[in-house]
Amino acid sequence: MMKVMVKDGKTLNVKTFDVKEEEIDDYTTVLELLLKLREERDPSLVLRYSCRMALCGSCGMVINGKPRLACLTKVKSLGEKIMVEPLRNLPTIRGLVPDLIPFFQKYRSVTPHLIGDEEQERPTRAYTQTDNQVKRYLQFNYCIQCGLCYSACPIVATNEKFPGPAAINVAYRYSADSRDRNPQRVLKLDTPEGVWSCRVAGSCSFVCPKGVDPSLAIQLVKSSLLRGGKP
Ligand code: SF4
Ligand code: FES
Repeated sequence: MMKVMVKDGKTLNVKTFDVKEEEIDDYTTVLELLLKLREERDPSLVLRYSCRMALCGSCGMVINGKPRLACLTKVKSLGEKIMVEPLRNLPTIRGLVPDLIPFFQKYRSVTPHLIGDEEQERPTRAYTQTDNQVKRYLQFNYCIQCGLCYSACPIVATNEKFPGPAAINVAYRYSADSRDRNPQRVLKLDTPEGVWSCRVAGSCSFVCPKGVDPSLAIQLVKSSLLRGGKP
């Protein structure tokens, strides 16, 4: 018998469910289990999800103390007791659903897209890149904006002005792109509340479900600032 505890981030109530071994198999994910519990035992469970395949980034929650995607986490990998809570460092809307607006406001504040020059605005040719130019930003491009890194970050927890790992990661991704012409994006992060707040705990990279290394992106932004600006 397995115990599954689900904490409502708004009321702080914890509901406990006994789950029999026969109810899960080797492939059952936490998301599937929560949906089953909602359908069969407690229709008041509130959660958010969409793709069920680690693409949309909407099912982030803290599972046994670690921010994870519920659709990517196998129940059998978690032991006899499972505690599920909403993401930390964000307000809860209801149940297990975090309010991601503060996360996306910071993400948007770094201009997370290419800014070209006038010629690129009215392109007359393809702006091709070499393999090495693509490699400079490729791994940072795999972010799905799930917010797990934001939830895991100890600096976000103590400094609400810190943009957070995902925002700095995407700032690096576009600034390191040979087609980008926006030096301001990283210069705006050159403040005590910006990249210099990071103490390299590395928890962002540890929890990222897509293999992105936002901690490395933050250090690369610091390095480029020390060398004068754009990566
Ligand atoms: S860097 Fe990773 S953990 Fe952070 S938002 Fe992107 S995919 Fe999620
Ligand atoms: S439901 Fe889309 S990432 Fe989990």
